Amino acid sequence: MKPELKFFKKSKSLPIDIFFSNVLYDKKFGYYTSKNPFGKKGDFITAPKISNLFSEMIAIWIISTWETFGKPERINLVELGPGDASLIKVLLEVFKRFPKFDNAKKIYLYEKSIFLEKKQKQNLKINEVEWISNFQKIKNGPVIFFGNEFFDAIPIKQFKKKNNVYLEKYYAIKDKKIKVLFKSALKDDINLIKSFNCLKKLKFIEFPKLGLKELHKIIKRILKLNGCILLIDYGFLKSNNLDTLQSVKNHRKNSILKNLGKADITSKVNFDLLKEYFLKNNLKVKSAITQKKFLENLGIIERSEIVAKKMSFREKTNLYLRLKRLLSPKLMGELFKAILAYKFKNDNYFGF
Ligand SMILES: C[S@@+](CC[C@H](N)C(=O)[O-])C[C@H]1O[C@@H](n2cnc3c(N)ncnc32)[C@H](O)[C@@H]1O
Repeated sequence: MKPELKFFKKSKSLPIDIFFSNVLYDKKFGYYTSKNPFGKKGDFITAPKISNLFSEMIAIWIISTWETFGKPERINLVELGPGDASLIKVLLEVFKRFPKFDNAKKIYLYEKSIFLEKKQKQNLKINEVEWISNFQKIKNGPVIFFGNEFFDAIPIKQFKKKNNVYLEKYYAIKDKKIKVLFKSALKDDINLIKSFNCLKKLKFIEFPKLGLKELHKIIKRILKLNGCILLIDYGFLKSNNLDTLQSVKNHRKNSILKNLGKADITSKVNFDLLKEYFLKNNLKVKSAITQKKFLENLGIIERSEIVAKKMSFREKTNLYLRLKRLLSPKLMGELFKAILAYKFKNDNYFGF
């Protein structure tokens, strides 16, 4: 059998979200379960690995959100998809400088990849955080969920719509090769898609069914315990007809069906759809803003100037190049966005 065909498991055809879930998260051969994708030696680099300044700003945002909540004695933090734990490591360091908050916080990590969970365990002290796979474990106190590049790593479905007929994209095995196939969409999926205003006029639809399942669990917890969710991801603000699936290997674009299990596969997040979903589910929303605006509102420039004071010329150059990568509209600054959904009556959130 050709190696890529193993991702079909026992099926002859699969909707693309299920196929790519196997490719990314299969317990033995999945991309996220068999290699470390991050950094220079990996396939891509994320904001926490570009600069600690990013993580420091998230720490400040979390503490200020705790203040917005009225500084409760207990605050639950849940990092969604912590990768190699780069972000949480910096958060823990910053939190130590704020003793009242540090005593109040309880940190949970939510990670699907067993391989990355092991990596996180190597990078952290075991009593600093708790790994959970079920949010019901969080019982008391408000909860802040946050994730950087969490949602874009959850595979999406794709549909074509013609004369009001919805067809879903599948991959199928034909003559020992992978072929694209369109099949009639399931009724439940059609109804779900039709329930979104932002998708109504589209002829080609990307739908994050698996991602919304995750959000549903999170929203239920926020509605019960009070709290919010902050997502930072790359994506767009207005729904469109584009096919945004992409694959990356060694920091370069890779053809989507090549190097299956050895390359990352993502799609751009539809922030229009996220906003509608949160509102439908009784959360309030701070509409998505660019990463540049979010980080600048939080004071990243001022912080970089303070940090730079003690640095050599070479270190300063490095710091500012990294800052540019996070903020420049041509690099990550505008493609990446931050969105906040919350239940709290107080809606004064730093950064938005
Ligand atoms: C692109 S990586 C981002 C990692 C990290 N947040 C960062 O910024 O470097 C996506 C992360 O989300 C995790 N992930 C994806 N889908 C998940 C799910 N359904 N449940 C839990 N973790 C998931 C991946 O295993 C990985 O840790």
